[in-house]
Amino acid sequence: MNPNKALWQKGDFTRIAATMRESGEALIERIGVSKALKVLDLGCGDGTTALPAAKRGAEVLGVDLTPHLVDAGNRRSRELGLANCRFQEGDATNLHSLPDQAFDLVVSIFGAMFAPKPFDVAKEMVRVTRPGGRIVMGNWIPNDPTLVAQLLKITSAYTPPPPEGFVSPMTWGIESHVVERFGAAGIPAASISFAREMFEFDFPGSPAAFVDKFRRYYGPTMNAFEAAEKNGRAGDLKKELDDLFRRENKSGRDDVTYISAAFLRITVGR
Ligand SMILES: C[S@@+](CC[C@H](N)C(=O)[O-])C[C@H]1O[C@@H](n2cnc3c(N)ncnc32)[C@H](O)[C@@H]1O
Repeated sequence: MNPNKALWQKGDFTRIAATMRESGEALIERIGVSKALKVLDLGCGDGTTALPAAKRGAEVLGVDLTPHLVDAGNRRSRELGLANCRFQEGDATNLHSLPDQAFDLVVSIFGAMFAPKPFDVAKEMVRVTRPGGRIVMGNWIPNDPTLVAQLLKITSAYTPPPPEGFVSPMTWGIESHVVERFGAAGIPAASISFAREMFEFDFPGSPAAFVDKFRRYYGPTMNAFEAAEKNGRAGDLKKELDDLFRRENKSGRDDVTYISAAFLRITVGR
């Protein structure tokens, strides 16, 4: 199996996504999704943004690399009675089953950024968007002081180095890389805009218990703990993450965790 797929198959992102629902709804509201739109949600997971888009009446297709997340999305869509939202497997680097210019809006929130071959990803997103349509990406920002950038930075220091030629997903959080990738897909820089926005995590337990969720269910954190256990460093990693999550917790309580993490919102006009 390709390492990108193995990473997300390994965990169960639904357990983390359950803490992200409110911000998913709010982001779709800000993007301005309406009834008339055909929407592709790429790297959609179990539907944190796809389902809110469908609730607003858009016709939504969620595409994700990971079969159990596609199943979870379809299950959630059925439970909500949303006939206008379906999920299917696919790879952001090659969306061969989707026709050219098929969507008014392509959304990818912390999704396509994790695919390899970022130039192919940009090209595919542009290809399936109709002229006059929009692409909106949400990407974590390297070295940002808030939760997810710090989580990925800390865990990568405990994980074996990636193979040569690996392009860090975090490069999708750097404006010049984004301009270069969409530029190669034919989009002028003037058609791309950027904003730093916040995404909230709302977990009904302590910061340390939230770290344990990432340790059990979030692929990149699982890999870091596996490597750290082999080196006898799992305690150090746990302590670093407990400190980070406690510091970032804005709930004012020890038994509930509410954390805001910054991301780069990219809007591309096709
Ligand atoms: C951090 S999760 C975000 C999921 C969802 N967008 C959300 O906000 O809840 C990353 C998602 O990207 C998916 N993914 C990773 N690489 C992908 C690829 N090459 N093509 C499509 N999806 C991919 C994973 O399976 C996973 O569901």
